Amino acid sequence: MTTETTPLLVIDDVVAEYRTGSRVVRALDGVGLTVGRGERVGIVGESGSGKSTLGLLTGRLLPKATTYPRGRVLIDGESVLDLPPDRIARLRRERLAFVPQDPVGALDPTLRIGRQLRLALRDTQADLVALLERVLIRDPERVLRLYPHEISGGMAQRVVVAMAMARRPALLIADEPTAALDSQVREEVLRLLFTLAAEHGTTVLWLSHDLSGVARWCERIAVMYGGRVVEDGATADVLTAPQHPYTAALSAADPARAKDGTRLLTIGGIPPVLTEDTPGCVFSPRCTSADDTCATTRPMPRTVAGRTVLCHHPGEKPVPVPNRPVPNRPVPNGPVPGGQEEVR
Ligand SMILES: Nc1ncnc2c1ncn2[C@@H]1O[C@H](COP(=O)(O)OP(=O)(O)OP(=O)(O)O)[C@@H](O)[C@H]1O
Ligand code: SF4
Ligand SMILES: [Mg+2]
Repeated sequence: MTTETTPLLVIDDVVAEYRTGSRVVRALDGVGLTVGRGERVGIVGESGSGKSTLGLLTGRLLPKATTYPRGRVLIDGESVLDLPPDRIARLRRERLAFVPQDPVGALDPTLRIGRQLRLALRDTQADLVALLERVLIRDPERVLRLYPHEISGGMAQRVVVAMAMARRPALLIADEPTAALDSQVREEVLRLLFTLAAEHGTTVLWLSHDLSGVARWCERIAVMYGGRVVEDGATADVLTAPQHPYTAALSAADPARAKDGTRLLTIGGIPPVLTEDTPGCVFSPRCTSADDTCATTRPMPRTVAGRTVLCHHPGEKPVPVPNRPVPNRPVPNGPVPGGQEEVR
């Protein structure tokens, strides 16, 4: 039975592997995350850490050939990976919404905006003008008559946010929703998204490279590396006093968070591409605090300084090797993986 105290989302020790012919990529490697109602959680990590895979997993939207050797996903207590097709379709329709990185790609190029909104809302009476006004679109009557290629990227993203939020979803997955936008429009879209979410009590998972944005909009942050959440806690705590060496390195390498005149740390090495069980900590080849235990024993979640950390030596700082100046450019944004489709 679901109660108000049942977490909205439980991801418990999930392993997810993409299979293409004989090639296996383990994108999630025992990931765990529990999210309560109305929480705003920023999921951060380098490209390839598994953020998009985690987002798609929550709606069982990964490619058909994906396998799940372990783990479970519960939304309101319902086991997402086991639901029959009609129930998963209903769950997606009634409880979940996705805002992708590419808003224009998310809209049907052959349909006018108004028609798409009607179809998405399944409500012939909905006041579409009011809906677009709510996301600060001026001249909404005109926009409703346009095709997606006739509006700007910023406006398309506002339309997609309106479409996602109009159904008042319990859970919104926003995957780099502002990556393609300039900084002013990005801020506007984020403000809209999080304001509407707060009004509707919607839980938000924001998959992002933007640590500063997460610090502004999310009270909680989950840091992913190698298909696991390696540090999870209150945003302010995690970013100001990271306990996992990877979080510390990520934060120190973030151009937007560097103070004027300081130099940035580079995280040496490259993120792993996993294919099977690895014995030790997958960050060990890049970690300046690694020892023999790290190479042989997989760290398990433990509570340190009020947050969950997967590390044998929490609190260790990365060795500072400043080797690049603070660049005067925006935070880099990674691509979303191609080829995902709803097939289950
Ligand atoms: N459709 C796919 N088929 C095979 N491998 C994939 C597919 N999508 C992602 N991967 C691989 O799974 C791993 C996790 O990728 P994912 O896209 O989830 O990471 P991400 O954190 O979202 O990265 P980014 O920040 O670049 O968006 C990577 O090794 C990636 O190459
Ligand atoms: S477990 Fe060891 S290698 Fe992994 S992050 Fe912690 S100190 Fe570094
Ligand atoms: Mg991604």
